[in-house]
Amino acid sequence: MLKIGIIGLGRIGKVHMTSICTRIPEAKIIIAADPFLNDEMIDFAKEFGIENLTKDYKEVLNNKEVDAVLICSSTDTHADISAEAIELGKHVFCEKPVDHSIAKINKVKEALEENPVKFQVGFNRRYDHNFAAIRKAVLDGKVGDVHVTKITSRDPNPPSAEYAAVSGGMLLDMTIHDFDMVRFLTGAEPVSIYVEPAVLVDKAIGEAGDIDTAIITIKMSDGSIAMIDNSRKAIYGYDQRAEVFGSGGMVASKNDSESTVVISDENGVVGEKPLYFFLERYMDSFTLEVKEFIDAVINDKEIKTGIDAGLKSIEMALAGNISIKEKRVVEISEVQK
Ligand SMILES: NC(=O)c1ccc[n+]([C@@H]2O[C@H](COP(=O)([O-])OP(=O)(O)OC[C@H]3O[C@@H](n4cnc5c(N)ncnc54)[C@H](O)[C@@H]3O)[C@@H](O)[C@H]2O)c1
Repeated sequence: MLKIGIIGLGRIGKVHMTSICTRIPEAKIIIAADPFLNDEMIDFAKEFGIENLTKDYKEVLNNKEVDAVLICSSTDTHADISAEAIELGKHVFCEKPVDHSIAKINKVKEALEENPVKFQVGFNRRYDHNFAAIRKAVLDGKVGDVHVTKITSRDPNPPSAEYAAVSGGMLLDMTIHDFDMVRFLTGAEPVSIYVEPAVLVDKAIGEAGDIDTAIITIKMSDGSIAMIDNSRKAIYGYDQRAEVFGSGGMVASKNDSESTVVISDENGVVGEKPLYFFLERYMDSFTLEVKEFIDAVINDKEIKTGIDAGLKSIEMALAGNISIKEKRVVEISEVQK
């Protein structure tokens, strides 16, 4: 039985706690930490029989029984806690993004080179049934040589302007998943990026220095072109689709909805809206990613979404931010220097 410690008991910490306690019998959570530990978190953990709760994440890291930690705290803590955990020989599952700074991600990479524990980044969308099926079709040669990849990624509602101001901006906070998805679906690396940004949803987001809408084009190392279409507000719900087109055909996914029911009457033919947001749409993928991490630790398997996935997605986001600022195509190599 793999013994797990969870660091951070906010939204995503609770998601992973629920997965492990209800759907992953090979692992057991023996301790969890959050500096703002409150009654709600305590009650939530106790429902799963987890009594060992602390405000200090170091108690999780220094617990000799803990084999692996899940880092689910705020983004600015991920890299430091990861490096500390790795140096103590703990296997690490780290929520995305690892950090906003390439230098700090490289520090985690160095720690891994010295202490080769398992390290996985929480790019859960790779485990979504639709996107995994697109990747499989590409690997099976169903589209031939990839020519164009299109990602549509639109949230149902924008965050507050206050959140936007401290999140690092839309590309680092939201589009980061789409950057990883482009690499995942094509199996190629980004070469250059151009972002056409807009503030069309909420002026306050613009005043806070962020954007809420973008069309992003990316030139890939296999010569193909990728396009990401982002909005912070789609009035019909969480719009998460992808398409890969190539010399041999095309593979595309639709949104998931609560049911496939379609009501037809004199006004038209109407289906259900997409599932509301990430907790509804991606719950299975959150379980599958952690299940795969636990399996990799127990059976010494290779981690597919490791530190390089964390690094490359940040390089794309940082290059994208330069593109927004300087209104030009930016080579990814410019941020790698
Ligand atoms: N993969 C995904 O789709 C996905 C979805 C949501 C969030 N996330 C990521 O997960 C992280 C957390 O997001 P959230 O939505 O759960 O935020 P949240 O604010 O709900 O929870 C974060 C928790 O971390 C705690 N925390 C802060 N510093 C800590 C520390 N030093 N030790 C222990 N706990 C600490 C906070 O008190 C808070 O309870 C973010 O990095 C976010 O980007 C990923």
